[in-house]
Amino acid sequence: MSLEGKRILISVSGGIAAYKINFLVRMLIKKGAEVQVLLTPAAENFVSKLTLSTLSKKPVYSEFYSENGTWNNHVDLALWADLMIVAPCTANTLSKMVHGLCDNLVIATYLSAKCPVFIAPAMDLDMYEHPSTRQNLEMAEDFGHVVIPAESGELASGLNGPGRMAEPAHIVAAIETFFSQNQALKNLAGKTILITAGPTHEAIDPVRFIGNHSSGKMGFSLAEEAAKRGAKVILISGPSSLQTNYENISLHRVTSAKEMFDKVFEYYKEVDIAIASAAVADYAPKEIAVEKIKKSDDSLFIELIKNPDILKTMGDQKTHQFLVGFALETQDEEAHAKGKLEKKNLDMIVLNSLRDEGAGFQKDTNKIKIITKSDIKSFDLKSKEDVAKDILNFVEEQMSK
Ligand code: CTP
Repeated sequence: MSLEGKRILISVSGGIAAYKINFLVRMLIKKGAEVQVLLTPAAENFVSKLTLSTLSKKPVYSEFYSENGTWNNHVDLALWADLMIVAPCTANTLSKMVHGLCDNLVIATYLSAKCPVFIAPAMDLDMYEHPSTRQNLEMAEDFGHVVIPAESGELASGLNGPGRMAEPAHIVAAIETFFSQNQALKNLAGKTILITAGPTHEAIDPVRFIGNHSSGKMGFSLAEEAAKRGAKVILISGPSSLQTNYENISLHRVTSAKEMFDKVFEYYKEVDIAIASAAVADYAPKEIAVEKIKKSDDSLFIELIKNPDILKTMGDQKTHQFLVGFALETQDEEAHAKGKLEKKNLDMIVLNSLRDEGAGFQKDTNKIKIITKSDIKSFDLKSKEDVAKDILNFVEEQMSK
């Protein structure tokens, strides 16, 4: 595939694999990409700026200021890129990235980047396998970055095993696959999608709340898949530790059902598609105690009142929106889901049954049925990322009818 016109920012950190970056730059340039190279101060010990700038046809930066006193604007560099790749990514640079330790131009640029970020780790075997590195790589993936796994072989230390930076040809292939999938998947371009995600927390007093175990994974996966397909995404999430860094996702964090309701109806009129994947608390304490409730009698009664049903209100106010709900059931699943489809005026409902192993809260997988007024389709147990693809494929199919 040609990479004509693609703007690729390569950030090199200080490992022996840095010598391979000359080949990577050459391959990307040959495929028509524009390449900008940045180095960490440690990388300067391993590669020559002159070689890299000759190959990339651009100056190579490693400091916030160039020798002539001009500022190397990390924000402009970050916003220029269609894709940023950190290769080789050492344990040190990886750790700084995921923890936001911003002490060089590479990290400042990374923190300003809105584009997809690829990471090609390279380190010695034991460092690569260390729980700390594993955790940092997982965090990077949770941020939505793509990790190109290190390959196995002889390492500079003499040890043999995984830790070598992926070969430049493999890195180029991963970049090409990414751009070709992205091009093929622009079928939600021009559409605005609102997605609710996560649990809600309903305060009892200043330190306690009523909540549930929803992690937000399903909603965040839907938001990222919709963003990849070119949609403008408004993601409204209750308390969740998940992060996302896509340029076309605007993330609004809320706490209670009431706050989620208000945020949803700031945007609902303008959206083309709304997907309610949040596990909204049905009830909230009637009054929130101003001070922490002290332990006293053997039992404690908290009066709860019904929260607004966000999805039902969206159904009632529907003009042109394609409306998708979720139903998490434990018995008579299909009948209950169909009831909600009808009652909330939905176009489709995604049913998960807690009786299916691997489905539900705090899981990375889900097993769903999609129900419309005229159709029921069952899907296998899949990762939530793949379930998000199935749901959006179905939405696209229904909308094109
Ligand atoms: N929902 C919502 N606002 C609420 C409650 C639910 O937007 N206050 C949405 C959920 O995001 C989900 C759908 O409604 O898409 C169904 O949620 P669920 O809890 O299964 O259904 P309920 O209508 O609350 O019914 P019940 O709890 O009695 O099963």
